[in-house]
Amino acid sequence: MSISGSNREQWGSKAGFILAATGSAVGLGNIWRFPYLAGENGGAAFIFVYIFCVVLIGIPVLIAEILIGRTTQKNPVGSFRTLHKSKFWRGIGGMGVVAGFVILSFYAVVAGWTLGYIFEAVTGNLLNYDIAEEASSHFVELTASPFWNVGLLALVMILTMAIVYFGVQKGIERGSKIMMPLLFVLLIGLMFYGLTMEGSAQGLTYLFNPDWSKINTNVILAGLGQAFFSMSLGMGAMLTYGSYMSRKENVPTSAVWIAVLDTSVALIAGICIFSVVFATGQNPDVGPSLIFRTLPVVFTKMPGGYLFAILFFVALSLAAITSTVSLLEVTTAYFVDEKKWPRKKAVLIIGTITLLLGVPSALSFSPNTSVDVFGFTFFGITEFISSNLMLPIGGFFIAIFVGWIWGFDKVTEYVKEGSEKLFERFPWMIKGWKIVLRFIAPILIIIVLLSSLGII
Ligand code: PFF
Repeated sequence: MSISGSNREQWGSKAGFILAATGSAVGLGNIWRFPYLAGENGGAAFIFVYIFCVVLIGIPVLIAEILIGRTTQKNPVGSFRTLHKSKFWRGIGGMGVVAGFVILSFYAVVAGWTLGYIFEAVTGNLLNYDIAEEASSHFVELTASPFWNVGLLALVMILTMAIVYFGVQKGIERGSKIMMPLLFVLLIGLMFYGLTMEGSAQGLTYLFNPDWSKINTNVILAGLGQAFFSMSLGMGAMLTYGSYMSRKENVPTSAVWIAVLDTSVALIAGICIFSVVFATGQNPDVGPSLIFRTLPVVFTKMPGGYLFAILFFVALSLAAITSTVSLLEVTTAYFVDEKKWPRKKAVLIIGTITLLLGVPSALSFSPNTSVDVFGFTFFGITEFISSNLMLPIGGFFIAIFVGWIWGFDKVTEYVKEGSEKLFERFPWMIKGWKIVLRFIAPILIIIVLLSSLGII
């Protein structure tokens, strides 16, 4: 399936769209980012905020974003140009393209770590760390090496560019159809194993028994940003996927499926990681390195851990690469469609610039090479700006556009296509969706953004 916009195929079936969109949604965001954010932001209280954001804001905005794509059958910038003559709205599409590019620069660094851990698993090195502190210091040692970190970042970018350059999405799609279910099965296996470890019950309490005093504006912003990040929302990726969808398909039901699958993977990953974190007496709030410090300990303890570790990091790398490909594809599609660049030129130039932007992120993990910006590492600041600011701002404008600007009579007609029965049975749904898009989502997003930036 090409997502370039020039060759507009359609998904073979309803499951085709849901699988592809879930493939974009499920990635490092669920298995790496969600657990580490939960650990940094107080566990259950964060998870509550995150789920609240997914249900109240994420699903309605996801429906809106898919609908724009399905209606215009274009890339984000082209979509807004088709629906509105003002340059402002084209700019909103453009912001999504920039967000995708910035996200890719740090996402590829973490994808590099997962590739690096495949080598660690294959050589058996990973199984030397049965004590949490040792697994942690091994990770710190590896990521402090510019050679390891930048080398793997370059490897991820070269692989991603090669896939987008040669357009072998078919291969990646087939690969991910096997690897995504495998990842799911492995995660469930790990979860059950984690739960049998002594002391793991504390992990469940940490994840599901909220301490409400932990909630503050930063926790809410992190939850909102993660809802957008995890659902690939607010930057036009879901819009682009929706542009390959037929009008016979049911947009709201598909959106709910994507949200449910995506959130389940995150929760399962959370249970795995925190049962181990507590069973091995580790600290939940170590930040982005969390899973790389925790998982080696389980692999050394479990039967068949050697093979399990290899399979796990291969599957996780594949989930990561399907996401890096979709991120690079969004930016490439923009230059190909809108600026008429040849595809190969677009891939080479954008891929190389992304790689260069990723280098300071890759160097953020050693005090000798890290450049600090406003008290954040470069990795931290690019992650924060793109995920916690640009994606919610993108979501805000998508809600405003569909709720107020597009013309809600037309919107109602479009969203009903393919879901007539649903709305016949539950006519209040359209009204509810309209109220969320017009008032609830924009107001909540603005309050969260302004208060976390200290403006109100
Ligand atoms: N949703 C992906 C994840 O959770 O790993 C990250 C992502 C992929 C965001 C693709 C945006 C995107 F376009």
